[in-house]
Amino acid sequence: MSEPVQTPQTFSTRIFSGIQPSGGMTLGNYLGALKRFSELQDRGVETIYCVVDLHAITVWQDPSKLRHQTREIAAAFLASGIDPKRSILFNQSQVTVHAELAWIFNCVARIGWMYRMTQFKDKAGKNAENSSLGLLAYPSLMAADILAYKATHVPVGEDQKQHLELTRDIAIKFNHDYGVNFFPVTEPLIEGAATRVMSLRDGSKKMSKSDPSDQSRINLTDDADTIAAKIRKARTDPEPLPETAEGLATRPEAKNLVNIYAALSGQSLESVVAEFAGAQFGSFKPRLVDLAVEKLGPITAEMSRLMADPAEIDRILGNGAARAEAIARPHMDEVYDLVGMIRARR
Ligand code: TYM
Repeated sequence: MSEPVQTPQTFSTRIFSGIQPSGGMTLGNYLGALKRFSELQDRGVETIYCVVDLHAITVWQDPSKLRHQTREIAAAFLASGIDPKRSILFNQSQVTVHAELAWIFNCVARIGWMYRMTQFKDKAGKNAENSSLGLLAYPSLMAADILAYKATHVPVGEDQKQHLELTRDIAIKFNHDYGVNFFPVTEPLIEGAATRVMSLRDGSKKMSKSDPSDQSRINLTDDADTIAAKIRKARTDPEPLPETAEGLATRPEAKNLVNIYAALSGQSLESVVAEFAGAQFGSFKPRLVDLAVEKLGPITAEMSRLMADPAEIDRILGNGAARAEAIARPHMDEVYDLVGMIRARR
């Protein structure tokens, strides 16, 4: 489906990414996404970041918890270095273009594309007929998030790769159906040592905010003692750390902890392996605890400071929404025109 298209119209570099407020933030979200979001901002490119509350309600959310979680994710963005002056930070539902463009894309995308999404299959489980229609159409809204801004690059963890391929397919089909080069064919940015942080209890499962076991993940709200206890109990194997990174290939739990260390310290996997070659996990884990507490402690503290003033978070999200709307609305007006909708002056 994803054949390259000719794009005579050039698109200037613009980064967009989003995080769902469907629970607290995990170390996986931090290393796979948040940490890289602020690195991109600091490189000086245009960055737009969104707390995707409309996506969250594709599965049931208690309204008051959703409000709390939306503010908490916004606090996590700010605490990890997102500067609301240099980046645009807002929550999705405040910019109605997302929902409007998603409807257009629902009419461009094919149902079969949606049924093929592994995240839909995982989340819908055995009783797919009983899942919300929104859960099936989820990737169409995600494409709208990105393309409302004509974003060219999307930093995400590995688990979002298939959704981004679908975003590309939607852009290509829209451009083809309407005979235009209106939307860019977005590039995913899936880079670094921690594109897939795994559960601390099972090296074959990704670390996730929806895992029933809290021991499986480190939350950005965990205190130092909790982080230490979770890492101490993290599953490993009895072997010492290998001499080379290849020696981790068949040891998923060991590899995960080494990857986490590499991502937190900003080193490559190879250099961490070289540093700890031959060490037992009994000596590696306390080093990992120290590093995790050193890096995450200030973020957790800043998050709780910000959460003490929810009105200030709401103000930041409102300002961000106004700036986001100013970019997205003219694009949406052009889309309505391309599709053949009458827009009468009122
Ligand atoms: P979400 O909310 O599940 O996760 C937010 C980001 O964190 C990354 N991530 C991980 N990275 C490494 N290891 C892990 N264990 C891990 N768990 C999560 C995710 O890959 C993601 O980058 N559908 C998206 C939200 C979304 C979006 C968008 C993203 C909606 N619209 C537009 C980009 C662009 C999601 O559910 O992410």
